[in-house]
Amino acid sequence: MTKAVRGMIHKPLELVEDNFKKPTGFAGRLIGHLMTVQHRTLTDWTIERMGIGATDEILDVGCGSGMAVELMAARARRGTVTGLDYSPEMVTLATRRNRAAVRAGRVRVLRGDAMALPFPDASFDHVSAIETFYFWPDAMNGLAQAHRVLRPGGQMVVTLEMSREASGTPSLVQRYFGRRFTERSAREGLRIVSGADLTGMLTRAGFRDAAFIAEPTRSLGWVCATARK
Ligand SMILES: C[S@@+](CC[C@H](N)C(=O)[O-])C[C@H]1O[C@@H](n2cnc3c(N)ncnc32)[C@H](O)[C@@H]1O
Repeated sequence: MTKAVRGMIHKPLELVEDNFKKPTGFAGRLIGHLMTVQHRTLTDWTIERMGIGATDEILDVGCGSGMAVELMAARARRGTVTGLDYSPEMVTLATRRNRAAVRAGRVRVLRGDAMALPFPDASFDHVSAIETFYFWPDAMNGLAQAHRVLRPGGQMVVTLEMSREASGTPSLVQRYFGRRFTERSAREGLRIVSGADLTGMLTRAGFRDAAFIAEPTRSLGWVCATARK
């Protein structure tokens, strides 16, 4: 029996958690595909807030299997989208998903770390971080990196589906599963924040006009924070 199959049988929750943080091997590829389905509406909700222009240059940090990259590239028709992830499996999946746009030079997918973005200063009009901020070992460094690679006036967006914004009238998921899951995740070291936490951190990282919106009854408390360089 492979390690992945043993994990699925004996510790399914731990396997999912580990592979959300860094998708690895067979289980990582499987979870990468599942994330594409699970995060679709959250990603659409995020992209609606980005005001992407046809010629914009966009960086999606922690791009996973590349679904957001694909959706953003459809809007930045004459621009470029760069997906970056530290998981080689996700770089492969995201490259495959976007293969036509990669061939056309409109998309590139790179292996790299949010903690040390491999781009010159002032390279992008938008930097997005969807469902990845929990895992960054040094959040302020990650935000400073994003700030550095944005052009003046460029936009940062951080979206999470699990936050301190989850409502007092919980959804079915929150009631039967979510609250315990959120607290467990916090104990495991994930960064579980409120919208105000996010805007405070963005402001401390040097951004202006930080604001957030939340959908407290969606999933485990959707939150999307935006700010400008
Ligand atoms: C839960 S997945 C979300 C993927 C995708 N953004 C989505 O919404 O479907 C988190 C992703 O962030 C990546 N990630 C986590 N920490 C990272 C870091 N420090 N640098 C680059 N990628 C990171 C993981 O490899 C994983 O693909």
